[in-house]
Amino acid sequence: MKIDVFSGHVSDVAADFLVVGLFEGVKKIRGATKTVDDILGGVITGAIRKQELKGKFGECIPFPTGGKLKSQRVLVIGLGQKKHFSLEKIRHLTLFPVKEAKKLRKRHLATVIPGEDESGFASLDAARFLALGYLLSDYAYDRFKEEKAHRLGLLTIVDKDASSEKEIKKGIFEAQGIASGVNYARDLVNTPPLYMRPDDLAKEAAKLSKGKITVKIYREREIKKMGMNGLYAVGMGSSAPPRLIVATYRGGKQREKPFAVVGKGVTFDTGGISLKKWEGMEKMKYDMAGAAAALGTLKAVSQLGLKKNVIVVVPVAENMPSGTAYRPGDVITMMSGKTVEVLTTDAEGRLILGDALHFATKKGGARAIVDIATLTGACVVALGSIPMGLMGNNKGLVEKFAKAAEASGERAWELPLYEEYGEQIKSEVADIKNLGGPEAGAITAGFFLSQFVGDVPWVHLDIAGVAWKDKERLGYSPGATGAGVRLITQVLMTYD
Ligand code: BES
Ligand code: MN
Ligand code: ZN
Repeated sequence: MKIDVFSGHVSDVAADFLVVGLFEGVKKIRGATKTVDDILGGVITGAIRKQELKGKFGECIPFPTGGKLKSQRVLVIGLGQKKHFSLEKIRHLTLFPVKEAKKLRKRHLATVIPGEDESGFASLDAARFLALGYLLSDYAYDRFKEEKAHRLGLLTIVDKDASSEKEIKKGIFEAQGIASGVNYARDLVNTPPLYMRPDDLAKEAAKLSKGKITVKIYREREIKKMGMNGLYAVGMGSSAPPRLIVATYRGGKQREKPFAVVGKGVTFDTGGISLKKWEGMEKMKYDMAGAAAALGTLKAVSQLGLKKNVIVVVPVAENMPSGTAYRPGDVITMMSGKTVEVLTTDAEGRLILGDALHFATKKGGARAIVDIATLTGACVVALGSIPMGLMGNNKGLVEKFAKAAEASGERAWELPLYEEYGEQIKSEVADIKNLGGPEAGAITAGFFLSQFVGDVPWVHLDIAGVAWKDKERLGYSPGATGAGVRLITQVLMTYD
């Protein structure tokens, strides 16, 4: 989809649909909505009076223009209550006009910046969320469908007083970079597990190698040789051996240490010998959503041309039960030398991540680390599917992420990593165990990870609740959401 800016009067933009907004409970309409209403002889105010149009969030009512405007139709979208309006809502709302356009198979949408006169958002931010929304809403995973999804061809953002063109263009540029990373991550996650086994993901990552990005793939023999036994053990049960993806982006100074992004890449999680129940298991293809987010972030960072050094470390394995699988009761010596007692083979994420985190600090020379993972069902119990879980060993870095979460529109909520939680992962036979018992499962998993980062500032993002939508929610169509790309990219954009 192409995006351009139209500086001029709303009546002069020629599109299939012209989108304007309406807040809930507004009696006297203003801005572009009023302009359009005046030209159309009061049809919008008429509809409000008849209560056919209320401005409720997500409401989407088309009006024919009968040649009075250059656009074919006006689409009034409900913005909801003013007090709940936000930049993220601008993103969320784009899904409704896109669905409307797809219904009629129209390809050109024009839109004003919804709520622009009343919200007080900077043009750059509003344009960024608006463009991002359209780019994400237009996404469809249709690889296995004979009939391909209908795509938009052009989005025109109307800059009504022709004063903010530069900011709007910058917002569009940022949105395009971020969206390319998010939609790339969604494609990786949506791919059925048969076509996304460890080597497939490695090969996809290798394709990113270009310009400032270098990708190195370690195969099972090298994984074993480096002593990454956590990753190796988890991969043992599968006929498709594990991989370690290390991708570096050099946008910063030669000697500047990189910011590390570590992503969980379990291409399918059956639970292994501690087999999961069948219900919902098909969804466990999204257990590599952390890996996808890490790689998507790299794509975004390079498209935005950020002046930072970034290293992405992705351990990849398929967690399968078989005669060669690792078992409950095994003790694994991790790359760091720490020993781990395996109580359940279904707590595999922390094993592959423990090694990857150690790799990032010791071989990657990371100055700070974020790891991102669909790590625990417990995080979904604790926080549901609105925010992701956020934990870390460094107050400053955790705060940085909490702030960036606000600014990026992706919510993250901190859970505490009190040292007392360490009790729960003590083992009789090894240094630690991979299960913390029934309490605070998201935290004990995070605590486990903290044992592999040494003193390097680190945060952990648990995206188990937000990386996948069964149904359309929060402006995401069903399937992978690409969770984390926006947040981590935001941090990297502002990190110094
Ligand atoms: N991949 C799962 C976590 C998960 C659950 C992600 C639901 C998305 C949705 C992880 O490997 C896992 O199986 N975790 C176990 C840990 C437990 C055995 C300690 C869990 O959460 O049940
Ligand atoms: Mn598991
Ligand atoms: Zn898992």
